[in-house]
Amino acid sequence: MSDAPSRRDLLARLSAAGFASLTLPADAFAQSVELPATPACEGHSTATPRQTEGPFFTPSSPQRADLRADGEGALLVLSGFVLTRQCRPIPGALLDFWHADAGGQYDNRGFRFRGHLFADQQGRYQFITRAPGLYTGRTRHLHVKVRAGTQSPALTTQLYFPDEPGNRRDGLFDQKLLMSLRPGEGGQLGRFDFVLAA
Ligand SMILES: [Fe+2]
Repeated sequence: MSDAPSRRDLLARLSAAGFASLTLPADAFAQSVELPATPACEGHSTATPRQTEGPFFTPSSPQRADLRADGEGALLVLSGFVLTRQCRPIPGALLDFWHADAGGQYDNRGFRFRGHLFADQQGRYQFITRAPGLYTGRTRHLHVKVRAGTQSPALTTQLYFPDEPGNRRDGLFDQKLLMSLRPGEGGQLGRFDFVLAA
């Protein structure tokens, strides 16, 4: 595997801070993206915009935060907080992600590149996957539903990648839903904080 060293390099670059309480695979997340114990925000925030679910959501995805084995492509480690509009972390918030594979295909029979996870006691989440490919008519994106609890109403939205040529041509694209990304060997380290209206 020619890319194995670079994957290790990426993971080795991630700091070990703070995710011990998350139920995450040790190899990927024992070393983790650095997030403070509390979010760096004050006062009130605007709720994360809602977006269409699209046609490819499948309910009851498996609980897992590691989707690397589902396919090929560059790694993407996404981390952040789930917050109230008063900037309070939401412990145990549910996040359900789904996205296309590197070829732009969704798995509509099984659960490839689909999974849900729970924020930790500080409202932090982290998951690792592989960057989705493009499909006709859309720029690169992830789909996600975020709930304060399993019985709470869901925020359904999509996340976007900075500097994608397709962003300008995609009518759904919203600047407020851009992840912040920085490179790591073998992939990218992303950050996005969700703010729930309720
Ligand atoms: Fe999509």
